[in-house]
Amino acid sequence: MIARRMALVLVRTIAEARAAVRRAKREGKRVGFVPTMGYLHEGHLRLVDLCRERADYCAVSVFVNPTQFGPGEDYERYPRDLERDRRLLEARGVDLLFAPSVEEMYPEPPLIRFQIEKLADHLCGPRRPGHFPGVLLVVTKLFHILEPDVAVFGQKDLQQLVIVKRLVRDLNFPVEIVAGPTVREPDGLAMSSRNEYLSPEEREKATVLYRALQRAKALVEGGERSAAAVLAAMRDVIERVEGVRLDYVEAVELETLQPVERLEGRVALAVAAFVGPARLIDNLVLDVRDGQVREVPAID
Ligand code: PAJ
Repeated sequence: MIARRMALVLVRTIAEARAAVRRAKREGKRVGFVPTMGYLHEGHLRLVDLCRERADYCAVSVFVNPTQFGPGEDYERYPRDLERDRRLLEARGVDLLFAPSVEEMYPEPPLIRFQIEKLADHLCGPRRPGHFPGVLLVVTKLFHILEPDVAVFGQKDLQQLVIVKRLVRDLNFPVEIVAGPTVREPDGLAMSSRNEYLSPEEREKATVLYRALQRAKALVEGGERSAAAVLAAMRDVIERVEGVRLDYVEAVELETLQPVERLEGRVALAVAAFVGPARLIDNLVLDVRDGQVREVPAID
């Protein structure tokens, strides 16, 4: 008999999602999970591929989480197309798609909030107050609903990845966090659902984030170890492009996300900039030791 894959199951309620996952677990399957806000692109789908390599049953959530958006941010206009997402996930062999409504996830305003020490003090943390607490809230809820053995996050959102890894460690979640490398367009632009906001002209300009990171990498490979010098060069690359407004460039130590003066050990170079209506982020993780510079595409 030819073994056939089961088709993707789409569920909208927490009860159905729990029941589906528990059935898989009773069959002895290792459950993998990829949380997303939908409007999927190849970056998300590579995380799905990784999830399927690491687990026997793959669940994906599509939920634009209101608690991680600040006032005036893009919650309302965030792109949504569940039917397209469903087709893409089915073609990629996903078993379960959990797409709850806001009412299902937040039947009443939550009164419990996360407070993050140190890890949210730099990079996007101060620019988007409430963002990472909102991410941790929804990730915790999703972990409790889907009880995954392994969950996959993209290094594109490095600060989120580091904070979620720490959440799991600090609060003893029985889940392994796996990082997926940043997937880029051929010209280097990191894939993002927010690239949808860009006009063709802005889309062209948006490659400057990647170019600034490549400039930084070349400098470090050439022996530069001063963070100030490298950041100044990145700023220079970005400020040359009209219509791009720099939010930040920072160099931080990977484990603590605290700024460094010298680029030694495992460090992240991170950038955020407004291109037209979109706020885009990108980063590069380098391991600098014994005069050698190695890019770390997926942290462990
Ligand atoms: P979203 O932006 O949809 O991203 C879902 C996952 O895809 C995240 O782990 C993100 O890092 C990853 N991802 C996005 N673009 C990527 C790219 N170009 N290459 C590789 N991975 C990429 O991140 C969120 O949603 C939310 O904050 C969420 C974790 C779902 C909580 O609401």
